[in-house]
Amino acid sequence: MNPAEKTSTGRKPKAATQGEEAIGPEAVIELTPEWQAEYLADMRIERARIPRRFLGKTFETFKTGRNADLKAMVQHAKAWVEGFYLDLDDPKEEGNTHKGFLIEGVVGCGKTHIAVAILQAVIRKGFSGLFYNMPDLLSDIRATYSNESSVSESGLLEEINRPDLLVLDDLGAEATKDWINDRLYLIVNRRYDSCKPVIVTTNLTVDDLSEKLGERTVSRLLEMCLPFTPFPKRDYRREILHGDFEPWKTTDRKKTR
Ligand SMILES: Nc1ncnc2c1ncn2[C@@H]1O[C@H](COP(=O)(O)OP(=O)(O)O)[C@@H](O)[C@H]1O
Ligand SMILES: [Mg+2]
Repeated sequence: MNPAEKTSTGRKPKAATQGEEAIGPEAVIELTPEWQAEYLADMRIERARIPRRFLGKTFETFKTGRNADLKAMVQHAKAWVEGFYLDLDDPKEEGNTHKGFLIEGVVGCGKTHIAVAILQAVIRKGFSGLFYNMPDLLSDIRATYSNESSVSESGLLEEINRPDLLVLDDLGAEATKDWINDRLYLIVNRRYDSCKPVIVTTNLTVDDLSEKLGERTVSRLLEMCLPFTPFPKRDYRREILHGDFEPWKTTDRKKTR
């Protein structure tokens, strides 16, 4: 894509000369370092497979109201992003520094929103990232088995391991099958071996995940991830449906009804 075009994330390049009357295609475009960095971040976000519906999910659009738990959650996530760096050449960085998050919670409580907010913030810091919904990932893996596929399974698995930060959304939502659990193990183990962080979201408890995916995968994930601040047990989608547009004003509002 020509850098002079508007990117899908909506940013237009700045014209060089202030006060220039007609900015036509021949106008000089000043590629300031800030603009270039933003442009490259936009491109990385485009390649990160974040679903269109979630492109607007950032820390800014995550409402906390006066709910102390949600505020703490956003602060924790922001601090993690601020401290995020990946220096795989530095052996002393092996271990804790590259821990991601295991985000547990009921359907609709905001897990994917916060995971995407973290991913976008890390990408804007200059890193690469990838979002994969688990059932989609398995369907993409299955598609590589077709003779018409231009991508091999090993090529796809390599692609998944490449980004600095990987989000595996809705782990445990996939069917339970041996081949699926084998692929999940491969994906998790590669990130584990290369000390690259993963953020996992799930509706299941750790015990249920273990039972479903197998101990070897979940045990690695537990070593690779920090637990995330617990979400309130509320389905934000239902609250919107019921016309409650500010459900996060207080912690106890629902209980008093
Ligand atoms: N605290 C919040 N502030 C703003 N929107 C929220 C909040 N929590 C959830 N949502 C919105 O509710 C919807 C469901 O959230 P989502 O993250 O998809 O839930 P989950 O992944 O936990 O099932 C999304 O549109 C999300 O942006
Ligand atoms: Mg989700």
